[in-house]
Amino acid sequence: MFRKSLLYLSHQKQIFNFVRHNGLAKKFASRFVAGETIATACDAVADLNKKGITASLDLLGEAVTNDVEARETGRQYLELLDEIHRRKLDANVSVKLTALGQDINDALCEEMIRAILTRAKQYATFVRLDMESSEYTQRTLDFFEQRLYPEFPEYVGVVLQSALRRTLDDVEWSIQRQCRVRICKGAYLEPATVAYPDKKDVDANYVSAMQRLMERGRYPGLATHDETILNEATRFAKAKGIGAERFEFQMLYGVRRDLQEKLVREGWRMRVYVPFGTQWYPYLMRRLAERPANVAFITGNVVKEMLSGR
Ligand code: FDA
Repeated sequence: MFRKSLLYLSHQKQIFNFVRHNGLAKKFASRFVAGETIATACDAVADLNKKGITASLDLLGEAVTNDVEARETGRQYLELLDEIHRRKLDANVSVKLTALGQDINDALCEEMIRAILTRAKQYATFVRLDMESSEYTQRTLDFFEQRLYPEFPEYVGVVLQSALRRTLDDVEWSIQRQCRVRICKGAYLEPATVAYPDKKDVDANYVSAMQRLMERGRYPGLATHDETILNEATRFAKAKGIGAERFEFQMLYGVRRDLQEKLVREGWRMRVYVPFGTQWYPYLMRRLAERPANVAFITGNVVKEMLSGR
C-alpha cells in the first residue's frame, strides 16, 4: 500500500514543482542522486573510480512531451560523453528512449540515439538502453534489434526485467544474438497478466536468467542488491569456472555501498548506476518505494547532518 502510494506520488508533477527548489528535499535526494549537473555527476564518478568502481551515468528525465525537450536531452548526453572522455573517467551512459522522444517522434528518437551512439563509438564507450514499463518492452527490443544493434554491436545493450513472464524468452533471444544485457528485477508496477505478482517468483526468475546469461551471454550486467542472489552469482561463477572478467555486478548510487566495496575487495567487477539532473523526483520516489525503510533512513541522515551543521 505504502509502495503503491509512493509510486503514485512519483507521477505527480505538481508535487515535484513544489519540492524541486526545497533545500530539505534536495538533501533527501542527494543520497541517491549525484547532483543536478554534469560536473557534480562526474565528481561522484571520480570518487567511485578511486574505489575501483566503474559507473553508468544516467541523465534523469523520463517521457518528454515535445521535440525541443528530446533534442535537449540528446545534446546533454553528447556533452556528458565529451566530459567523461575529457576527465578520463571509467564510465559509460544509460539512456531512456522516452527521454529522447520515443513516445512522440520515432524518427527524432532514432536521430538522437544514433548521434549518442556515434559519439560513444568515437570514444570506445558504451550506451545502455534502460528498460521502462512493460508497454515499452517489445518496442524497445525491436528498435534495438532493427535500428541500432546491426550498426553498433559493440556499443549498445538492453535491459531485461525478471518480474516479466516473458523474460526467459528474451534472455534466449539475446544469447542467440550475443547482445549485451543488464538483468534487473524491474522497478515498475505491472499487471499480473504480464508480471509475476509474487516476489519469490521474480527472484527465482532472476536467478534462472542470470545463470543463463553468465554461462552463455555476452558480458552481462547483474543489477541487484539482493544478497542471496549475489551470493548465488559468485557461487555459480566459481562452480562453473566463469572468470570475474566475463560479467559485472551493477548497483545503484547510494544503495548498499558496503556490498559494493566488499565485492570489489573480493575481486569482482562493480559498476554503479549514477543518476543526476534536475528531474530527480520520480527516480527518488521509485527508490523509496523499493524500500520504504529508506524514508526513515534518509530522514535520520538529513536530521543528523542538520544537527551537525553540515
Ligand atoms: P530487492 O528489491 O529484492 O532488494 C534486495 C535488497 O536490496 C533489499 O532487501 C535491500 O537490502 C536492498 N535494496 C534494494 N533496493 C534498495 C533501495 N532503493 N535502497 C536501499 N536498499 C535497497 N529497473 C528497471 O525497471 N529498468 C531498468 O533499466 C533498471 N536499471 C537498473 C540498473 C541498475 C544498475 C540497478 C541496480 C537497478 C536497476 N533497476 C532498473 C531497478 C531494479 O529493477 C530494482 O527495482 C532495484 O534494483 C531493486 O531490486 P533488487 O534487485 O535490489 O532487489
